[in-house]
Formats: sequence, C-alpha cells, structure tokens
Amino acid sequence: MKILYLGDIVGDDALKVIASNIDEIKKRLKVNLVFANAENVCGGKGLNKEEYLTIMKSKISVVTMGNHTFSKKEIYSFIEDSNIVRPANLYNAPGKGYLSLNYNGKIITIISLLGRVFTNSLVDCPFQTLNKILDNVKSDYYIVDFHAEATSEKLALVYAFKDRVNAILGTHTHVQTADEQKIGKTLYITDLGMCGPKNSIIGDDINSIISRFTSGIYIPSKVASGDIMLNGVVLDLLNNKIERYMEVFHG
Ligand SMILES: [Fe+2]
Ligand SMILES: [Fe+2]
Repeated sequence: MKILYLGDIVGDDALKVIASNIDEIKKRLKVNLVFANAENVCGGKGLNKEEYLTIMKSKISVVTMGNHTFSKKEIYSFIEDSNIVRPANLYNAPGKGYLSLNYNGKIITIISLLGRVFTNSLVDCPFQTLNKILDNVKSDYYIVDFHAEATSEKLALVYAFKDRVNAILGTHTHVQTADEQKIGKTLYITDLGMCGPKNSIIGDDINSIISRFTSGIYIPSKVASGDIMLNGVVLDLLNNKIERYMEVFHG
C-alpha cells in the first residue's frame, strides 16, 4: 500500500495545481492514497470550507493541520464533520487529533501533533499525547504528522517512538529536508517541505519578507505567485520504504 503525503499546501494556486494534476501524479507514482498538510491553504493561513471541499474532490483522503488550524474562523463551522485532523495536543479544541480510516480492510490512523520548541504554542506534551493515543487506539498502521520547528524535537520524537509507529513526518518549516530514512522500523523525514510557490520565502512574497527583516517593522505579506513546487514523500507501508517527492509545475 503506497501513500503520497504532501507537505503544507500554501495558497490557492498550489491547491489548483494539485487538483488538476493529482490523478496523473497518483498513476505515475503508483500510490493508493493521498494525505496532505493543509494549514496554509487559505491565503497562507488556515482553511476555509470551499478549499476544504476542493481538497476532498482532489481525492486527498485526510488533511492534517498545525499552528494555523484556527487562523480562519470559518473552520469552526465544519471541522467536526470533516476529514481534518488538528493537533491532538491542543487543549480542548474542536475537531479531532487523529483519524482512522479503513483501506481494503486495513486500518490506517493519522495523528497530528504540534511541537513546543520555537512555536510559541501552549499545548500539551506531544510525547505524552502520542503515548496515550497509541495505548488507546488500535490500528494496523500509524502515521504521525509532527508539526514542529526544531529539528531536535522532531528527531527526539522519532527516537522515542521508533518501532511503535510506521511513520513520523515533520511539517511546518516549509523547507524539505534530505534526511528521509528508517529509524528502527519507523519511516522518518524531518520536514516534508511545502506545496506552494517555488520562488518565495516559505510561500510568501519575497520582497515583503525581506522588508520585514531589514526594517524590523511587521509588514503584512501575501502568498507569492509563479511556478508551483510540490513537496512530500511516498510511503510504501507494506515494504517499509520512504521516498522523497519533489516536482515543479510552471505557472
Ligand atoms: Fe505551514
Ligand atoms: Fe505551521
């Protein structure tokens, strides 16, 4: 069973590229299922219903979120009845922190966790949260999206849970790392990268972000335009293999 897991989708242009190419990509990569992180779809922060429905029509079965889960208020109205997984370690937030789906008689559980280092997030311990979920949820496969900034926190999670989960995939930095590997039996990458404008600063307009750094003034920025880069990994759960995925679509 092969799964394409896409990194943070940033902006509408990236979503359009995914929607119009996903059938061909699935066929070419020979994947059965597609999952994605969708915390940055709507203008770079959050997820509204229209975009969520486009994601579902694009045959992405489940989306995980991150620190921008509730950046758009509209999500409160549809998150409960959706295939959206928000970080499991958010205090009493609406929605769910994991989701189990049945694919050909096998249960796959997708879990979202938010890191605590450099994310300014007041969340429960991701280690204890994952431990509780694994103790309580029976599943054939477990896939974790660890949405975190610090490489050390991501590596610590995989070493703490190696062999207990099938995959731990980092998200949030929007920069794909080249360290895909097996740690014990667990498939791991520090960061999936993003699906968004290639010529950008982690998805946003280059000049406004440079101005922010050079002036010290917070200048609102928008999602950049141009060529769209898709980043992610292909997980082969039966053969326990991970392969990096990167492709550019000219816009
Ligand atoms: Fe993100
Ligand atoms: Fe994030």
